[in-house]
Amino acid sequence: MKYRRLGKTDLKVSIVGVGTWQFGGEWGLTYTQAEADAILDQAADLGINLIDTAECYGDHLSESLIGNYLSRRNREKWIVATKFGHHFHDLFTRTDDFSADGVIKQLDDSLKSLQTDYIDLYQFHSGPDDLFDNDLLWTTLDKQVQAGKIRHLGTSIGSNANIHQTEGSTKVNSKAIQVVYNRLDRAPEELVFPSCTSQDLGVLARVPLASGYLSGKYKPGAVFSNTDVRHRHDADSVKLKLEEVQRIQQEEVPPGMDMAKWALAWCLKHDAVTTVIPGCKTPEQVVANASATELISDNHPQAWKS
Ligand SMILES: NC(=O)c1ccc[n+]([C@@H]2O[C@H](COP(=O)([O-])OP(=O)(O)OC[C@H]3O[C@@H](n4cnc5c(N)ncnc54)[C@H](OP(=O)(O)O)[C@@H]3O)[C@@H](O)[C@H]2O)c1
Repeated sequence: MKYRRLGKTDLKVSIVGVGTWQFGGEWGLTYTQAEADAILDQAADLGINLIDTAECYGDHLSESLIGNYLSRRNREKWIVATKFGHHFHDLFTRTDDFSADGVIKQLDDSLKSLQTDYIDLYQFHSGPDDLFDNDLLWTTLDKQVQAGKIRHLGTSIGSNANIHQTEGSTKVNSKAIQVVYNRLDRAPEELVFPSCTSQDLGVLARVPLASGYLSGKYKPGAVFSNTDVRHRHDADSVKLKLEEVQRIQQEEVPPGMDMAKWALAWCLKHDAVTTVIPGCKTPEQVVANASATELISDNHPQAWKS
């Protein structure tokens, strides 16, 4: 594994992390504790130290599976990133709550679910600009930082071209941007990444496999179960994406190379990107995703220097 500094935080993060939206049950599977343990143990064995979760991946369900795991392992070795701003009601149904009081309640629920007394990175979860521009919210969160419940604040931007929240990050003491970035969607390169670089913000590239489409295993016309979030993606645009994936596979991916490994390394080669957080359904996917590090040199502006 390789490690990078997450922006101006003191966090040394593995360049491949584990995204855990799938633990909340919206990717066609439900997880037992043993299955979640196996994924996280595999990640730890490979030097992965970053977990990304959220309050609304299930009603704190993903956090609870992670918390149960952490309670039996060395919590200190992990960098736990979670998020605030939503209540989960049922599969694919959430309501927003970015109010200062509501977020304090969510923070306490997240700490309880994660069975920890601190969160390493607490991220504004894809909320609108008017709720981001709420001084009371950030002042309240800063008090939680002072109290030691949060180590660092971050922002997960909804649209991956959201320059308003990116540019406003330093002002609200948010030190990392989480953003959709992958070989099919390069929008952050234009404005978001330059702003991250100039503010020295860490960047977590989410959806780095384009929801799995960039793994190369799906062909145009692929169908997903109605408990898999991809069932809700627009069929025409998925078809176009999968046709583009076929072209990329033929023209850009070296023969014989696993396309998921290649696609993650592609993200990690950008100077602004600190880490990728692919969702991993099995320990085997963790192994394949971690192997992207083999394609990455130590010559990156954020490479960890010990
Ligand atoms: N608003 C937000 O803040 C937000 C939104 C979305 C995601 N996120 C975070 O970002 C993480 C990653 O995004 P994502 O899970 O939506 O998309 P993703 O990482 O692009 O795709 C994940 C899916 O790709 C497939 N996959 C993973 N590794 C693979 C491999 N090695 N080979 C083949 N297939 C593989 C798996 O599904 P199949 O095997 O079923 O194909 C997996 O569920 C999430 O888990 C979450 O932590 C945050």
